[in-house]
Parts: sequence; C-alpha cells; structure tokens
Amino acid sequence: MLLLKQVESLQRFLRSRKEAGDTIGFVPTMGALHEGHLALVRKARSENTLSVCSIFVNPTQFNESGDLDAYPRLPGPDLEALTSVGNDVVLMPSVSEIYPNGKSGGAPVDLAGLDQPMEGAFRPGHFAGVAQVVDRLLDIVQPHRLYMGQKDYQQAAIIGHLLRETGRPVELRVHPTIREADGLAMSSRNLRLTPDHRERAPSLYQTLQWIKEAYLQGESVAQIEQVAMDRLDQPGFRPEYVQIVDGVTLQPARTPDQHEVVVACLACWAGDVRLIDNLILKDN
Ligand code: PAJ
Repeated sequence: MLLLKQVESLQRFLRSRKEAGDTIGFVPTMGALHEGHLALVRKARSENTLSVCSIFVNPTQFNESGDLDAYPRLPGPDLEALTSVGNDVVLMPSVSEIYPNGKSGGAPVDLAGLDQPMEGAFRPGHFAGVAQVVDRLLDIVQPHRLYMGQKDYQQAAIIGHLLRETGRPVELRVHPTIREADGLAMSSRNLRLTPDHRERAPSLYQTLQWIKEAYLQGESVAQIEQVAMDRLDQPGFRPEYVQIVDGVTLQPARTPDQHEVVVACLACWAGDVRLIDNLILKDN
C-alpha cells in the first residue's frame, strides 16, 4: 500500500495511473477505522482497479472544539487495517495540505435546505464543513466512484446533491450500514460506551425496526415518533430526535404511498457518547 501525505505527490501518482487506464474508487474517512469503513474499501477495490482512502480529521465539520480534540486518532492500526483489506493508496494529509488558503469558505454550493433538519439542527455548520472537505478531496483525487455509508444517511444525501450541483463526473455508491451482531451500527464512538450503555445500545436499532413495522401498518408519523422517543428514553440514554422523512428531500414524511423512499433517522446520547442510526422504511 502506498502512503502519501502530500496532495501533489498523490495527484502526480494518480495522473499516471489514470493515463494507464486505471479506474479509481475513493473512500474518504476520518480514521479510527472499523468494519464499516473497511466494507467501503472492499467495495471500492472490487468495482475499480485502484482504491484510494483518505484519513483526515476535518476541523471544519466539528462544531465543538472539544469534540475535535477527543476524536480518536489511530494511524498505526488504521494503516494495518487498510493493508489487510488490500487497499492500494492512502492519503493522510495535514490541515494545511487540505486548506492551503485557510479553512473559511464553507459549502461550495447551496445545500438546498438538506443541511437544516435532524443532524443539521443539532450540529450547526457541520454539513457545510463536510461538503467543503469532500469537494476539496474530490478535486484532489478526481475518482470515478465515491463510496459512502448509509450509516450517515443525511451526509450521503447532501453529497449526492453536491455532485449534481457541481456536475462532477463521479458516481456515488452508498453502502448499507454494517452492524455488530446485536444490531448496533458500527461506529468509532462505540469504543467510548460504558459496558452498561454498550449492552443497551442495540435499543436504537430495535426501535428503528419497531418504527418500520408501525409505519408500514399505517400508524401516524407523529404518533410513531413520540412512542419511539419514549422507548429510547432509558436511564443514561437521552434521545435527541426521531424523524421519519422523505428519503430524497429529508422533509417530514406522510403516508408510505406519498413517497418513493422513506427513512427513519435518530440520534441518541448514551452517557456522553452521541449515537446516530437510521433505517429505510420504504424504497421503490
Ligand atoms: P467517518 O465517520 O470516518 O466515516 C467515513 C465513511 O464511512 C462515511 O461514508 C460513513 O458513512 C461510513 N461509515 C461509518 N460507519 C459505517 C457503518 N457502520 N457502515 C457503513 N458505513 C459506515 O463520515 C465521515 O467520516 C466524514 O464526515 C467524511 C465524509 C470523511 C468527511 O470528513
């Protein structure tokens, strides 16, 4: 595996590989890699002749500096994990490599309100920073395909919008959420759960499954969201939102027949760890 820290070296390398006919699959990450990330890398490898992964803890998407400082950085184990799945190239740039002209700038396109509900309401500025860094990384890597996880449904929807607005010739491939055996969505943050919270964290996924059943049986969205909030509200757990939304506009959903795609999204604190998850309730 080729490890590069300089943007220019990566660009030079990729230019020659593209001229030689390689197709490039790109997986942007913030490191602390787990099976969810590695599934994206495997997919990128299987659908392209060259996989490129970036590890960059992007300061512009953190709305709290404490959160940025606390974000796990595990370069050694990350490089081992990427080698073990046969990843071809990894970019580990410094902040000044990614933002040579400073970090201000925000989202390169209007996010059409997709950044406002759910995560956007609780993490102001977060998606502007995500769109900013992904656009910059795409500029650098110029991949044929971009791999992202359904785990961050709203993020993937916003990047899909970014690609359409900028007209970049990149195919977005969204990979299903990888879960632990008990249903908990894999996340770098799970390591910080106390044993008691870890044991009860599968209640997020169980709640999503209950929501799906209730929604498809015709119960009202408002009623389901309320009951789901109550179900999540156990000792030590504090739900932030449960929302059933149109899978494209991310606006509140009505009955199943009025939407092509419907998704239930939630965020819940387990102690001081903030967990998110989602489940597609309907997809034509
Ligand atoms: P990070 O949280 O490291 O996630 C990198 C990618 O892995 C994202 O596309 C995310 O959705 C995906 N992912 C995380 N957990 C997953 C799981 N359990 N199953 C499937 N996919 C999973 O998301 C980010 O980094 C950043 O915002 C980034 C896009 C890199 C921009 O900085």
